[in-house]
Amino acid sequence: MVKKLLKKVRDPSILILDFGSQYSELIARRIREANVFSLVVSNFISIKEIQDIKPQGIILSGGPNSVYEDNAPKCDPKIFNLDIPVLGICYGMQLMVKELGGNVTTAINKAEYGRAPINIDCESDLLSNVKDKSIMWMSHGDSINNLPNGFIKIAHTENTLHAAISNREKKLFGVQFHPEVIHSEFGMRVIKNFVYSISKCKADWTTETFLDETIPRIKEQVGDKKVLLALSGGVDSSTLAFLLNKAIGKQLTCMFIDQGFMRKGEPEFLMNFFDKKFHIKVEYINARDRFIKKLKGVTDPEEKRKIIGEEFIRVFEEESNRLGPFQYLAQGTLYPDVIESAGTNLDPKTGERIAVKIKSHHNVGGLPKDLQFKLVEPLRKLFKDEVRKLGKALGLPDEIIKRHPFPGPGLSIRILGEVSNEKLNCLRDADWIVRDEIKKAGLYNDIWQAFAVLLPVKTVGVMGDKRTYAWPIVLRCVSSEDGMTADWSRIPYETLERISNRIVNEVAQVNRVVFDITSKPPGTIEWE
Ligand code: XMP
Repeated sequence: MVKKLLKKVRDPSILILDFGSQYSELIARRIREANVFSLVVSNFISIKEIQDIKPQGIILSGGPNSVYEDNAPKCDPKIFNLDIPVLGICYGMQLMVKELGGNVTTAINKAEYGRAPINIDCESDLLSNVKDKSIMWMSHGDSINNLPNGFIKIAHTENTLHAAISNREKKLFGVQFHPEVIHSEFGMRVIKNFVYSISKCKADWTTETFLDETIPRIKEQVGDKKVLLALSGGVDSSTLAFLLNKAIGKQLTCMFIDQGFMRKGEPEFLMNFFDKKFHIKVEYINARDRFIKKLKGVTDPEEKRKIIGEEFIRVFEEESNRLGPFQYLAQGTLYPDVIESAGTNLDPKTGERIAVKIKSHHNVGGLPKDLQFKLVEPLRKLFKDEVRKLGKALGLPDEIIKRHPFPGPGLSIRILGEVSNEKLNCLRDADWIVRDEIKKAGLYNDIWQAFAVLLPVKTVGVMGDKRTYAWPIVLRCVSSEDGMTADWSRIPYETLERISNRIVNEVAQVNRVVFDITSKPPGTIEWE
């Protein structure tokens, strides 16, 4: 299973066993920031699979359970005898201690959450160059009472006797704090100590090595066959197009399906950029009429998404038959998608693997599973920020790399109720002004998404001597890390004023602009 997951991926130098921590992915990212390739795998990984992968170090993640709970997740205890360095973080350390004969108790009144200065008790490989009394981030209820044989305490905090432990001979280490969290002042030092000095990893995970390794692999996989890629203009599919173009050149065909719901100028920009400037063949499919006809009379948001998703697949199938045959389909699947679909997350109650829920509407615009293509997915080992770096290295402009997330159904879900060409044109103009002013104010890169929404009601206004009845536009600007939660952006009044003035003056059917000041939750980012 895990080997299958790692298919076409270089073997990781550090394996992270996931015990259900919200930080498991973050550990992998931190290690990759140290230019060492790491992967999160399920705690159910077998010893045989680990031996096949031959990692240079293993990290046991934290987790929400207590090690003595009936269904507390475990790993094969032989992992501690493989002569591979192991670092247990929080739950991972407690599990290691318990399995090796030590003792863990519930720390009544001694639970520790948040910042805690650590006191270093003695010199160690793990805490080398970590400053005494520096702040580390704690989040635990249980604590370690007795250490197993061969372990020593290397740091403590006011409330935690064993904040860090070491068995140097067996290369087993544990920390009660979370070195991966940004608030842990010397957290990255701890990670680097484990990765470089203890596990002897080389810092060889870079964009250059990724390209050096991936391009021949793609060539080998594809041979002389033809590859189709559905280009959306987002950073993932655009980076993929550049990468494949470098690897297989003319064997690649990109297809851009214009459903008519893109932002102003985007289809033209894409075509100019890929086709004319970089000579990457893009088939432009103008499907605007088809989509708008299908949406006639449709007002329900989920119904809109469903219709658009289905129509997308239909157009895709027709066009790929017309342009093909293609033996391969390229997809911009990223590493978090791989982790999610591998279901490494654990049910905190039963300890069983649970599939992570992926919002159904995010799959709109995706392709059905039963298409008769083999898949090329060279980005499946990368995080989003690594894709951005790769895109930049391959020559993609900031317009694409720093582009705000844009939903698959595009502007159609930013027009509440029925979509028409008239409303689309109106929204496109208003949306363009929003982006233009946000960029001019230098705010674009600090904002997660900034856009306009059209409400299908008419409000009264006065222009010159005449009363007007026209649509209001909602301005939605949010800051967010991942789109799961968001806060409304505090846009300076001057920028708000310019946006409002320009929209009301330049967009004919609009006479009012309102600013959405709802966070998520309880609101959502999109209005539909
Ligand atoms: P919400 O509105 O749920 O949005 O707070 C969270 C993030 O998801 C994007 N979003 C979509 N993306 N198809 C997509 O590809 C969709 O139907 C869709 N709906 C919302 C939204 O733009 C935000 O980034």
